[in-house]
Amino acid sequence: MATATTVELKIQRFDPERDNEPHWQTLTVPVEPMDRVLDVLTRAKELFDGSITFRRSCAHGVCGSDALLINGRNRLACKLRVEQLGKTITVAPLPGLPIVKDLVVDMDGFFEKYRSVQPYLVASPVEGSGERLQSAEQRDRFDDTTKCILCAACTTSCPSFWAEPEYVGPAAIVNAHRFIFDSRDENAEARLDILSDEDGVWRCRTTFNCVEACPRGINITKAILEVSSAISTRE
Ligand code: SF4
Ligand code: F3S
Ligand code: FES
Repeated sequence: MATATTVELKIQRFDPERDNEPHWQTLTVPVEPMDRVLDVLTRAKELFDGSITFRRSCAHGVCGSDALLINGRNRLACKLRVEQLGKTITVAPLPGLPIVKDLVVDMDGFFEKYRSVQPYLVASPVEGSGERLQSAEQRDRFDDTTKCILCAACTTSCPSFWAEPEYVGPAAIVNAHRFIFDSRDENAEARLDILSDEDGVWRCRTTFNCVEACPRGINITKAILEVSSAISTRE
């Protein structure tokens, strides 16, 4: 490998079998001009310390598994070029979730909240062709929120979630929005009931951290306000 230069990679480490609390490990890692943070983490693991632990799968911004706190902001390691960060790269796990090991967090609570909003189509059988027709305008109503990859960058950047971990969080609301405003769905009222409780949409303080963190560019705060409005205006 013809290495162009190096970066200082600071990784937050934590091994529950050895450590009482997290600590930092700094490595000088060779990098190529087009490297992403995921490439640097992978190289650090291959060259220096095979015990460095992190999640990744697709490496192309699709699976959502490598969201991390990188230089102070939640981002996907596979979507962030090293040249965007300078000579020091600091990598820590997503804030506000229990650490399993190093950069891996426990996502069970996150996915439990996701499931709590019934993120699937509920619709009666249709006669004839079996197709559920939808106009382009009806489809467009929830197009933005179909883009979510469940990376958790939004929820774990939200001060309301940090303060009150029972808050269902922006990711779950985004995925509720995707079905609440789907003209084919028949279960919007149940989702609005779920999101109107004390840990639902009212905990949002329109801080916008979630929008800044979202690697899919979803206008999360707008989606939350649309769900809040649907709750407020229903009969
Ligand atoms: Fe990730 Fe964006 Fe989905 Fe939140 S809304 S989980 S930041 S893709
Ligand atoms: Fe949190 Fe986003 Fe609302 S950061 S407070 S969910 S606008
Ligand atoms: Fe799949 Fe980054 S590894 S989104």
